[in-house]
Amino acid sequence: MDNTHGDIVILTGAGISQESGLETFRDKGGLWSKVNIEDVATPKAYQNNPRKVQQFYNNRRRRMLNGLIKPNCAHNALAKLENEWLSKKWGKVTVITQNIDNLHELAGSENLIHMHGEILKARCQKCGYIFTCNMDLGFGEVCAGCDRINVLRPHVVWFGETPLEMERIYGLLEKCKLFISLGTSGTVYPAANFIQFVGSSPNVYTIELNMEPSNGATLFDETRYGLATDLVPLVVEELLTCGIPQKITSRI
Ligand code: APR
Repeated sequence: MDNTHGDIVILTGAGISQESGLETFRDKGGLWSKVNIEDVATPKAYQNNPRKVQQFYNNRRRRMLNGLIKPNCAHNALAKLENEWLSKKWGKVTVITQNIDNLHELAGSENLIHMHGEILKARCQKCGYIFTCNMDLGFGEVCAGCDRINVLRPHVVWFGETPLEMERIYGLLEKCKLFISLGTSGTVYPAANFIQFVGSSPNVYTIELNMEPSNGATLFDETRYGLATDLVPLVVEELLTCGIPQKITSRI
């Protein structure tokens, strides 16, 4: 059976967007060193102080809208891999991102799942209407789905809430032949569990690309450390030239 081709799943985290100018969360000087998760990224925080939570996301939304934050060559390389892998009929490439920015879309990735939601979308807490949002929230806006006022929130998954599309994600992980984890510290579950889920299968080759070993680093078949903009284009070229590497099974 040709194991050098097949479906690929790539999990991305804040590290892939860092060189586009978006800070990560847990690196030195990261977002969570400047603001408490409990104050801005939980349902309780929203209940206690909706204006503070809305303002936190309004600021992040505005940064994405000012046109200064653009995809980098790592985002572009993943979009190229998806396109060429499919056109060669070698399988499907799906990006599962923990990021709420839209840089994968801007780079051209189409098979894309935002498991933590999207900063450029809003959701009605009453009727569930989800729509593209280019405006500040929390100032008396009306839901276009149910005409209620002051019911819109960022379509972002807060701590303690269930990430999106988990059934679809585990279905993709079950089928893939290559799992790449890219630019994530492996701190937040269930994303941090994906390597345990795929790593035990003899048919899946796993690669970690990061600046430093993540919490799950020892579970990967291969790890490479450095900048995403150096590592990702190289790995994509290797995959397009040589296909999926084969696991080294211990010879008895
Ligand atoms: N190239 C490659 N990796 C990088 C780069 C870079 N230029 N810059 C940073 N990194 C790596 C860091 O080494 C770190 O391990 O990216 C990782 C970022 O880790 P976190 O800041 O923890 O971000 P992430 O793993 O995406 O966080 C997961 O936590 O706060 C929640 O919802 C939030 O989606 C986020 C989730």
